[in-house]
Amino acid sequence: MGKNILVTGGAGFIGSNYIYYMQRKHPDYRLVCIDALTYAGNLHTLDNAANGNFRFVLGDITDRDLVFNLCKEEKFDLIVNFAAESHVDRSIENPEIFLKTNILGTQVLLDACNKFDISRYHQVSTDEVYGDLPLDRPDLFFTENTPIHTSSPYSASKASADLLVMAYHRTFGTPVTISRCSNNYGPYQFPEKLIPLMISKALADEPLPVYGEGLNVRDWLYVDDHCKAIDMITQNGKIGEVYNVGGHNEKTNIEVVRTILKAIGKDESLITHVKDRPGHDRRYAIDPTKIKTELDWEPETKFNDGIALTIEWYLNNTEWWQKILSGEYREYRNFGG
Ligand code: NAD
Ligand code: DAU
Repeated sequence: MGKNILVTGGAGFIGSNYIYYMQRKHPDYRLVCIDALTYAGNLHTLDNAANGNFRFVLGDITDRDLVFNLCKEEKFDLIVNFAAESHVDRSIENPEIFLKTNILGTQVLLDACNKFDISRYHQVSTDEVYGDLPLDRPDLFFTENTPIHTSSPYSASKASADLLVMAYHRTFGTPVTISRCSNNYGPYQFPEKLIPLMISKALADEPLPVYGEGLNVRDWLYVDDHCKAIDMITQNGKIGEVYNVGGHNEKTNIEVVRTILKAIGKDESLITHVKDRPGHDRRYAIDPTKIKTELDWEPETKFNDGIALTIEWYLNNTEWWQKILSGEYREYRNFGG
């Protein structure tokens, strides 16, 4: 009998890719997904996950009774917390839900770990907790020792959750690990984020809204490489440690947008420069030395291959994202409970 894992936020982008990754890699593991199905959660995304070792529970991680009852019933070996409000622009418009889900939700899960003696809690965090790096210092990278220095309500909520996770470890001995990953891309990413947004707009011949000059830099990682890192950290990572995850794949936004337009065969005249994001982080860049040295993790997918796979996936799965654009996906509630 394999492990029994609680995957929170598994109807979202990275959580669902993690469920599929783990089903391929560890078919004997039981995976229980709890997801509140916010605007970002989509049950269609999990259509192919159903099997005897998978259970979906509709629920909010801030619902203490529900989470505790589930933990009591399932006796989990591990909780991997993906559930979050994840979009920076939305956090600028309305920060409150970010604080509730990202901080208080994390607290409920940590309390559940302590109460039910769950042997590992993994917090899926982000490189955004380190703030940003200047554009004219390509020699600088985020290490695990870079001070927390956040820019947006989203990153502040993720940093708060990280601090809480480490505080639970020190005060209560909760067996935790944290991963801080760079920007992910791949299948099932909600089309509000840069890459799927630009793919869907380019396919529809609509203007592609690039914030400011498009010179901000992100460090892109194919989502399966992130899932692999989480699997390795939860198996062999040291309790109480933070691991940065990224593959030295820095690109300016305009470069990414041009790559997409070229691959789809559309004209660069679709690019429209729009008002910049307030507080816009300039550059993210991960130093992955620790995870490489300690766990022998390395990304497998190069950006050129990953972006081609991603564009192909969006071309072959137009129904998935068109149901999102039309809002139809919100009506689908075919879960087992
Ligand atoms: P996403 O927005 O695609 O998915 C989030 C999921 O969480 C959705 O299914 C949503 O329904 C669910 N959810 C939201 N609030 C909930 C609640 N209160 N209770 C239960 N479920 C809830 O996000 P994503 O891009 O897959 O990110 C997953 C995690 O990875 C987040 O914690 C994010 O901070 C982190 N992260 C993301 C990236 C990235 O590039 N996308 C990079 C590094 C870290
Ligand atoms: O670094 C990890 C983070 O990456 C995660 O923690 C977040 O959950 C995830 O959303 C992502 O944050 P970003 O803000 O970097 O991702 P986003 O796709 O929103 O934007 C990427 C870059 O593209 C950023 O510099 C802003 C720019 N952008 C974005 C959108 C949506 C545009 O120029 N136009 C757009 O329409």
